[in-house]
Amino acid sequence: MIDLKRALHKPEFPRSSAYDPEWVLDNQMGPNALWLLEWLCASLDLQPGMRVLDLGCGKAMTSVFLAKEFGVNVIAADLWMSPDHNWRRVVEAGVADRVCPIKAEAHTLPFAAGYFDAILSVDAFQYFGTDELYIDYLSRFVRPGGALGVALVGLTKPLQGDLPRCLTTPQSNGKVFWEPSCRCFKPPHFWQRLWRDSPMLSDVRVEAMEDGWRHWRDFEQTLEMAGKGIFPSDAQALEQDRGETLALLKLLARRTELEGENFYDPSLGAKVGVDV
Ligand SMILES: C[S@@+](CC[C@H](N)C(=O)[O-])C[C@H]1O[C@@H](n2cnc3c(N)ncnc32)[C@H](O)[C@@H]1O
Repeated sequence: MIDLKRALHKPEFPRSSAYDPEWVLDNQMGPNALWLLEWLCASLDLQPGMRVLDLGCGKAMTSVFLAKEFGVNVIAADLWMSPDHNWRRVVEAGVADRVCPIKAEAHTLPFAAGYFDAILSVDAFQYFGTDELYIDYLSRFVRPGGALGVALVGLTKPLQGDLPRCLTTPQSNGKVFWEPSCRCFKPPHFWQRLWRDSPMLSDVRVEAMEDGWRHWRDFEQTLEMAGKGIFPSDAQALEQDRGETLALLKLLARRTELEGENFYDPSLGAKVGVDV
């Protein structure tokens, strides 16, 4: 029988290694969200009592981690996952006093400007954050000087010509890695430019995880061996690509002091007719 604790233990992610592997595998929705978050948090200065938005929190595993590891107060916001189920997981994890699950769409966030000390997002931002002006909208919910931090799946470099065959042909389990929606995977240069051009952000940094593809492959293998994958494993495609194309990235920035009009507000339509 596979030793899950051992399989998920990584010296690079000591905090994540302490969590129950069954819980981690049961609540995953992509590359190991705790590994991604631990790596992201190493670049942040989270202090107990801070207000943090975990945007696209999925099954709230990352929100639980943030509350436990850093003592922050988390709004766990997600579109597809039910807050009822997330609340149950939060209560079971013993952080009911620090995590509040809500259903929210990333373009119609129900918060006051400047409310959060930090907005974080793990393996979700690619689904709603590629729009040119979206980061201006999102960053208005962070106080001036507060942090924005995103960890996501991406590319090592811009795609030129055809994709590698290992990503577009069936793996031995029949699954093809690259789906049409993978076009939201972007290289560091894309994110750097998108965020750097925003007047709402300063200190923009984009980094790729060292050996990211190995960690991602290892997690896919563990999921497969444990029989806990939601989809057939992508380990073979990751192994063959060997980090040539696919990468795990983090985006970091600080909210500027800039105030003023928020010209781009994708939720404006929903507000028409409502008192301001
Ligand atoms: C791949 S899952 C990752 C979930 C979680 N962060 C994790 O790493 O386990 C992506 C999540 O993004 C959320 N999401 C996608 N589009 C969204 C949107 N427009 N607004 C809010 N959440 C969104 C989905 O509901 C989904 O739970």
